[in-house]
Amino acid sequence: MQLVTVASGGKRMKTGAAMRDIGAVPDAGVLCENGTIAWVGPMSEWNRTLPETYTEIDASGRIVLPGFVDSHTHMMFAGNRAHEFALRSQGATYQQIADAGGGILNTITRVRAASKKDLKKQTLRYMNAMMRHGTTTVEMKTGYGLDLDSEIKMLDAINELKVEEMMTVVPTFIGAHAFPPEYKNNKPAYVDLIIDKMIPYAGKRNLAAFCDVFCEKGYFELEDTERILNEGKKHGMLPKIHAEELNPLGGAELAARIGAVSADHLEHVTDAGVHALREAGVVATLLPGVSFFLNHGYAPARKLIDAGVAVAIASDFNPGSCMSYSVPMMMTIACTQMKMSPEEALTASTLNAAAALNMSSSIGSIEVGKNADLIIADVPDYKFLAYHFGTNHIVTTIKSGTVLEI
Ligand code: NIG
Ligand code: FE
Repeated sequence: MQLVTVASGGKRMKTGAAMRDIGAVPDAGVLCENGTIAWVGPMSEWNRTLPETYTEIDASGRIVLPGFVDSHTHMMFAGNRAHEFALRSQGATYQQIADAGGGILNTITRVRAASKKDLKKQTLRYMNAMMRHGTTTVEMKTGYGLDLDSEIKMLDAINELKVEEMMTVVPTFIGAHAFPPEYKNNKPAYVDLIIDKMIPYAGKRNLAAFCDVFCEKGYFELEDTERILNEGKKHGMLPKIHAEELNPLGGAELAARIGAVSADHLEHVTDAGVHALREAGVVATLLPGVSFFLNHGYAPARKLIDAGVAVAIASDFNPGSCMSYSVPMMMTIACTQMKMSPEEALTASTLNAAAALNMSSSIGSIEVGKNADLIIADVPDYKFLAYHFGTNHIVTTIKSGTVLEI
């Protein structure tokens, strides 16, 4: 059995050449006790006595790796946007569809009308599928409610899904995802609503770990983004930014200045932005599936990695810009389109993605003391995860030491 540890020796994340060091160990074993990893190494070094009762899983001929951490999703939604997908296949652009009242606004109408119960039901179905594809931790954003009640409905629903033992759920508040139709002609008033009502309310009930903003021309510009994220900080939410997706606005520099945990998207990041991210130790979360699905340009992964920025990849799973939760699929796109190596893609989907959620001290690698979140793939070598694409190789998902039903 080939074990891929992605061990970092206590480092929060991997940068530069270290991203290619995935700690592959042939003929290895792992011992899990009480939900955590108690021993890991080559079987030739095994020197433990096993307890009286234990379960043994034989992974010969397969690989074992840390569970995937999908650190950026909008996976709680209602309805679908298959019709817009068909329009795009005929030449319409994402922006044209949004300008005509579709896009995010389409999903907002559906989410506002949906009950919390129905939102949870659909999301749980997707979580099950993600678990079968190897995801053991997922971040979930709001942002399809855009009024106080609907944003809180989403946050409550996300928090209620936290009890699911199959997956760690991390809630992010992104009331600043778009301007709702009722504020179309009074955008400053919507920013005030976020700052004066939504964030304090969510903060008081401790509903979100992160606060995120879609920092973009025509959406939330730099000044609003900074005000919103500062308010989030005051209420215990760590900052994240959707930065430089469509235009280079300086969101990366703002992420660095404000101490964001991650800056996400970055398709149009400038050299100054790359430098700022590196200096501040902000994780650059790239979303290859979005560029693929919308046929946009890709983020400069090579430039970021070679400059020493910690790069993570995530699915961005949502009904508009990436209708996929397959982390291995994102790895394939990262390798073929962004020229990341299979090793870099693996580190980006595990340890560095955990760092993007500020959780890499407990998840993201197979090291003694960390959560026993492990997956087994029926492939002979880790490179096959990205190489043999379009099919699911995960045969076993283990969450906190418990083998889940696949
Ligand atoms: O991350 N950029 C903004 N938001 C999402 C898209 C959400 C949607 O289209 O429903 C994104 O790509
Ligand atoms: Fe997003």
